[in-house]
Amino acid sequence: MIQNIQQSAQSILDTLHSAVLVINQQLCVEYMNPSAEMMFQISYARAKQRPLQELVIDETDFFTRLKRSLKTQHPFSAYEEDLTVRTGQVLALDYMASPIQYGNQPQCLLLELVSRGRHRKIAQEKHLLIQNEASRSLLRGLAHEIKNPLGGIRGAAQLLERKLDNEQDREFTTVIIREADRLKKLVDRMLGPRGVPHKRQLNIHKMLEHVRSLVQVETSKVKFIADYDPSLPDIYGDESMIIQAILNITRNAIREVSDDGEIIFRTRSIRNYTIGDNAYPLVAKIDIIDNGPGVPEDLKEKLFLPMVTGHAEGTGLGLSIAHTLINRHDGLIEFSCTPGYTTFSILLPLLTDPE
Ligand SMILES: Nc1ncnc2c1ncn2[C@@H]1O[C@H](COP(=O)(O)OP(=O)(O)OP(=O)(O)O)[C@@H](O)[C@H]1O
Ligand SMILES: [Mg+2]
Repeated sequence: MIQNIQQSAQSILDTLHSAVLVINQQLCVEYMNPSAEMMFQISYARAKQRPLQELVIDETDFFTRLKRSLKTQHPFSAYEEDLTVRTGQVLALDYMASPIQYGNQPQCLLLELVSRGRHRKIAQEKHLLIQNEASRSLLRGLAHEIKNPLGGIRGAAQLLERKLDNEQDREFTTVIIREADRLKKLVDRMLGPRGVPHKRQLNIHKMLEHVRSLVQVETSKVKFIADYDPSLPDIYGDESMIIQAILNITRNAIREVSDDGEIIFRTRSIRNYTIGDNAYPLVAKIDIIDNGPGVPEDLKEKLFLPMVTGHAEGTGLGLSIAHTLINRHDGLIEFSCTPGYTTFSILLPLLTDPE
């Protein structure tokens, strides 16, 4: 057993969610695992033998501690520290450094980094799911109560219409029927997506191109840029549901951007990612990025809840529906925004063995 474990040490490191690096006396990278590649957005092949200062920037304290630990051979830990990485992103991390020696190499330092931001996000996502489910069941009850009498009102208006000879009087019944239909449509949207998903293998890029062709008919002001990872495997899902989710997010982005608007569709795969309570070895990330002003501050916390809108003509259902649809695929939607760069990301597990 022990021998087997030792033999599979490499795959243990590959599967770890923590980023692991081995740093030599010159503070250059000797080794990094896939989670570290993800964290620093660089491949091991490129980072190997490069100074750690190229991955973590402007963090004098951090490097002073590493040097001290290498010199004194004392391990150390730091909690909830912010480190700026090479992409400019500031990561909230816990990290531990332990002196290590392998073979007849000089002493090195084993550095483990655990992202606190991710933990915080997982807790927020769980909270959002619970909130969303609670407001959905409230809406379901309300929608049911509205739909029954609404059918009655519409039916009665139709009967009345038949009995009216006067064209002017008929206008009133037409208004009743039209408004009842509008209300029914709204209530149906409020009820959210129903029906079981019909899942099959789907090419993400085909779906994105389909959405692009749909929305480009509606608007000519926006420039679309495709930044696809061609090696991304197919996902297993319901095509119309996933297209609907992408469409809802894209329509929002189009509304926000100005005349020189730009929307980027970007796809990437991420290794070792946790969604809800489940850790997945591989996840597809679909980013819809716009250069609009970003999500208003007062909406950020409740954006995915039904009936939350920043627009007078909006119903506030688009993102809530998208969230439910992606959730049915065990995925999630995240967003981040800085002015001129708003990203909505759909994350979907990539299963090698579909059920
Ligand atoms: N890309 C974005 N940039 C800035 N704000 C956004 C973006 N996407 C969504 N929002 C904000 O989130 C709100 C909620 O979006 P959501 O799609 O749920 O509802 P809506 O677009 O207002 O109405 P509906 O989609 O039902 O027609 C929007 O009204 C808008 O204020
Ligand atoms: Mg919308």
